Parts: sequence; C-alpha cells; structure tokens
Amino acid sequence: MRIIVVENYEEMSAKGAELFVEVMTAKKNCVIGLATGSTPIGLYNNLAKACAEGKVDFSEVTSVNLDEYYPLAPDNDQSYRYFMNKNLFDKVNIKKENTFVPDGTAKDPEAACKEYEQRIDALGGIDIQVLGIGRNGHIGFNEPDANGLFAETHLTALTENTIEANSRFFASADEVPKHALTMGIGSVFKARKIVIMANGADKADAIKKMVEGPISTMCPASLLCLHPDVTLICDKSAYSLVK
Ligand code: GLP
Repeated sequence: MRIIVVENYEEMSAKGAELFVEVMTAKKNCVIGLATGSTPIGLYNNLAKACAEGKVDFSEVTSVNLDEYYPLAPDNDQSYRYFMNKNLFDKVNIKKENTFVPDGTAKDPEAACKEYEQRIDALGGIDIQVLGIGRNGHIGFNEPDANGLFAETHLTALTENTIEANSRFFASADEVPKHALTMGIGSVFKARKIVIMANGADKADAIKKMVEGPISTMCPASLLCLHPDVTLICDKSAYSLVK
C-alpha cells in the first residue's frame, strides 16, 4: 500500500483528484468507482472544477457507486443517488444513463444486487475506485463481522455505530435506514486502482487498524492490504495513531 500523509482535507482532496484525472486522461471511456460521505466531497469539487476548466472530460465515462441505503428512494435527499447528483453528476458532463448506484427501491434486493455485480463485470471492472472509511473500519457498508464478509454486492444490516455516525444527516437516528445494498469486498477488488481517503481524528483508530493489521474481517479496510494497487491519502490527524 502506498501511503500519502498530507496536512489537511484540502490537500487530501487535491491529491485524490490528481489520481483520478491521471486515469481519466489516459482512458477517456474509463469506469470510475465512487463513494459517498463527507470524505470525497472535496475530491468531487476538484473534479467539477477540472471539468469546467476543460482539464477532464466525463462524456465517455461510466460510474458505479459503492452503496445505497435500503429502502430509500433516489429522490430522498438522504439517498446516495441524490448525494451523487448534487455533489458531482449535476456539475460535470457525465451522461446520467452512465451513472449507476444500487437501487434502494428494488422489490427484490437480492436480484438487484446480482444484477449490479453483473454490471460491474460487464463493464470490465473499475479503473479507479475511491473509498472513504467508517469509524469502525467499514468500507462501503461492509461492516466489521467476526463471522466473515461477503465478496459480492449484497443486502446488509447496518451496525449501531454506523447508524449513529450517519444519523447526523437525518432528523434522528430512528430515521436512518437499518439496511443497505453494498458492493462486497470482492466487488471493490475488481478495481484496478483503489484510492482510500481519510481525514480527522475520529478516523485515526480505523486507519491504525487498517495499516498495522492484523488483516481481519473485524476491520474490513484491512483487507485492502491484499490488493496490489492501493493508495491511502490521509491527513495527519487520521494518521496520528500509526506507529
Ligand atoms: C458511510 C458510507 C461509506 C463512507 C462512510 C464514511 O457509511 N457508506 O462509504 O466511507 O460513511 O463517511 P464519511 O466520509 O462521512 O466519514
């Protein structure tokens, strides 16, 4: 794993954008893997700016997102589809029909997950995937689990820790959906290049466990140590507990 420690959120976002622009310049019709949460917003702002300045072009790009709450409609302002439209898709020249987010309204979530996984395969995998990290080390919505993790896109229950962490975006914790559709760790591993970003002291414990190991399903991010092309970009606070 390549580790880049930066001063702050702005530097983290700029560095992440640089890696995306590199891939998108080399391959016009690339597949980009996207994440939600506060972490990648700065990266998306940088990409929108680069697009406005003609430095990057989304017209042939396809995107696949990591996860979506279940059940939650795409027009709900807390849905990840809504987040992506607002923070990136509406600001760049990507074709909406080329943007994929798991379907939070699917009647048959298992079939929807299977279809989503097949879509990733049909696209030929992901060229570059950005990830945030949960305070408990989760990736997407792959929550720590001593009994193991799922490789492919699946329906999952959220942990109390994650419901609490994400309740800041909802009126109350009771309103946070208790389930989500998420790519599995194996789906994430279909990305040829992975960029994981973290900032702030509340991520320090997760980053320590991810970097120092042991590789464990109790810290899903630690599994990334097994992937051949991962870059961790984090600020000093997030890196502060690593020895
Ligand atoms: C959510 C998302 C993750 C994200 C995590 C951290 O649970 N499903 O993909 O990485 O939150 O979010 P934040 O970047 O806001 O700290």
